[in-house]
Amino acid sequence: MTNTNISSDKSTALETSKVALWLTDALFSRRRDSGIILLVVVLLEFGIATIVYVTGGTKYVYLQFMYLPVMLGGLLFGSIGGVIVAGIAGVLLGPFMPLDLEKNLSQPTLSWLVRTGFFCLIGGSSGVLSSLLRQRMRMIESVAQELSVTYGRTLHALVSLVQERDDKTADHSERVAYNAVVIGRELGISQDNLETLYWSGVLHDLGKIGISEQIINKPGPLTPSERLDMQRHPVIGERVLLNASPDFAPIAKAVRSHHERWDGRGYPDQLKGETIPVEARVVTVLDVFEALTSKRPYREPMSTREAILFLRENAGTHFDAQIVDIFTSLHHSNKLAFGDEQPSDLIEMQKRYGAKSVLLNRLKL
Ligand SMILES: [Fe+2]
Repeated sequence: MTNTNISSDKSTALETSKVALWLTDALFSRRRDSGIILLVVVLLEFGIATIVYVTGGTKYVYLQFMYLPVMLGGLLFGSIGGVIVAGIAGVLLGPFMPLDLEKNLSQPTLSWLVRTGFFCLIGGSSGVLSSLLRQRMRMIESVAQELSVTYGRTLHALVSLVQERDDKTADHSERVAYNAVVIGRELGISQDNLETLYWSGVLHDLGKIGISEQIINKPGPLTPSERLDMQRHPVIGERVLLNASPDFAPIAKAVRSHHERWDGRGYPDQLKGETIPVEARVVTVLDVFEALTSKRPYREPMSTREAILFLRENAGTHFDAQIVDIFTSLHHSNKLAFGDEQPSDLIEMQKRYGAKSVLLNRLKL
């Protein structure tokens, strides 16, 4: 089975877990408004009792609707709550409810007593089941929390690999990640994908750990063969991430594509336009801007103005024009971080995306 298949299976499983969590949360969470919910359940019982009376008494099928609030009572308030709601239901359909309104026939006492017993059995057992489910959900939540911590640690271990290799690259990557999230918000990217964007920014050059130090630190321009070697780093980065966990697939995909070009002349896959993951398109703009404005042993850094002009001239060929537009306007309003700047909300962003894991956020725990 390929990593992509595993990842898509896990993704489906996560989506299912999300629905299960939402459902169980809706049904089983401890609520402050439980008094109101109890009132609604009891009102529902009164409503059903009225329907039973108006339609002619308990000999008709409508009394079966009463199982609904009884089961809800058990699910929402546990076995004791279930039995109480069942008792109310039994009394409402009990001595004062006719068997046949038209013929003025009342119910035999044994009949409504047995029915009340059934209601209590259903309400009570729904309550026991819901307690068991609650317990199971708490276990799943705690396992997911543990997993998420492991995921977070794995990503941090990969970040420290980048830092060990080159401190400057680490600072550059943190800045790219910060600015990527700021741009991502403007693009209307969802919270889950902002986290992928953050990690894609931090880890985009992770694959450089597999490139020889001589090439990485070469003071002059690279020869064609050295350039080819260097161009392997997006694929190496992707492989390291996928080997760490198939759950990092979205980040790995963006890392692989951060040197693609809008016109399809990039590497490694010559992807074009919107087939390039949006996270990669954002990182590309920021990465090139950083490269142009940084000092290299063989050239002076470009001014910010010149670098922005370069981005604008190459929008629609090298870069996604929409992202260049957003970058320019955010830059003009001083919302992006450059050089040694430490934006005030950088730590907050690192805590938000750095401390959590992909899984944790996707499960909304
Ligand atoms: Fe790169």
